[in-house]
Amino acid sequence: MAEQERTILVTGASSGIGAAVCRRLAAPGVRLAAHARLGEDSGDNPALRQVVAEARERGADAHAFHADLAATGAGDALITDVVAHFGDLDQIVSNAGFANRQIVGDAARAELDRAMALMTGGFFDLTSAALPMIKASRVGAVVAISSFVAHVFPKDHLFPTTAAAKGGLEAIAKALAVQLAGDGVTVNCVAPGFTRKDPTGHSSMNEQAWKAAADATPMGRIAEPDDIAATVEFLLGPGARHITGQTIAVDGGLGLV
Ligand SMILES: NC(=O)c1ccc[n+]([C@@H]2O[C@H](COP(=O)([O-])OP(=O)(O)OC[C@H]3O[C@@H](n4cnc5c(N)ncnc54)[C@H](OP(=O)(O)O)[C@@H]3O)[C@@H](O)[C@H]2O)c1
Repeated sequence: MAEQERTILVTGASSGIGAAVCRRLAAPGVRLAAHARLGEDSGDNPALRQVVAEARERGADAHAFHADLAATGAGDALITDVVAHFGDLDQIVSNAGFANRQIVGDAARAELDRAMALMTGGFFDLTSAALPMIKASRVGAVVAISSFVAHVFPKDHLFPTTAAAKGGLEAIAKALAVQLAGDGVTVNCVAPGFTRKDPTGHSSMNEQAWKAAADATPMGRIAEPDDIAATVEFLLGPGARHITGQTIAVDGGLGLV
């Protein structure tokens, strides 16, 4: 088995960071399960279709999967579909998510539930269902995309419901890292700072807010999706085989100020 031969599930792959991760990982020998939510009914999501086509051009055996991962049971069903299609599963990049800028007092309780259902519950469901395959894999690894919003709280950039969901995600990831360490499986989080959205992405900020985000970042710019994808690629590769239970900030120094 070649070093890079493996089956990888990337959730939220239709745009932004997830699409950039697919572009980085797509290579001969890689079986790539690219997931998004939209298209669940029709089986089609043009943005995801494009990501899959690009991955195939790069030599990967890529296939599109659709599921609303906020729904209980959807994560289990997605893992079942991926394994039915590819026959196995080695690595997961749990990236599907969104941000909500509503502060406490403005956000309804339902917004907290929605964030927790996708970003904490979805991660829990996916990893629970994939556990036997990941443990049995020679290159088992999980990377979850968290966020700066769970670590720094600049007055003008508060995302309390998103922060709660990402904080829960990171706690599960750390527990899972210890649980799977004896099996040689690594579990890590990447916490992006403000990161450029694709036109097809879901943005909670207007142009002015993005400008303020770049100004608030010590490196003077927001991240490109590929800045995040590069760290994900490293964490899934042999160079990171002794790194587990960590949250790596890729934020241009935002967490320092
Ligand atoms: N961009 C930033 O500034 C930033 C900063 C920190 C952390 N992050 C985190 O990075 C991750 C990716 O962000 P992004 O900016 O690249 O986002 P994006 O371009 O808006 O993409 C989000 C992806 O998640 C999927 N998704 C959303 N809701 C879903 C649901 N209920 N079930 C299944 N899939 C769902 C979307 O699928 P559809 O297109 O089909 O809806 C899409 O593929 C998120 O977890 C986000 O919290 C982003």
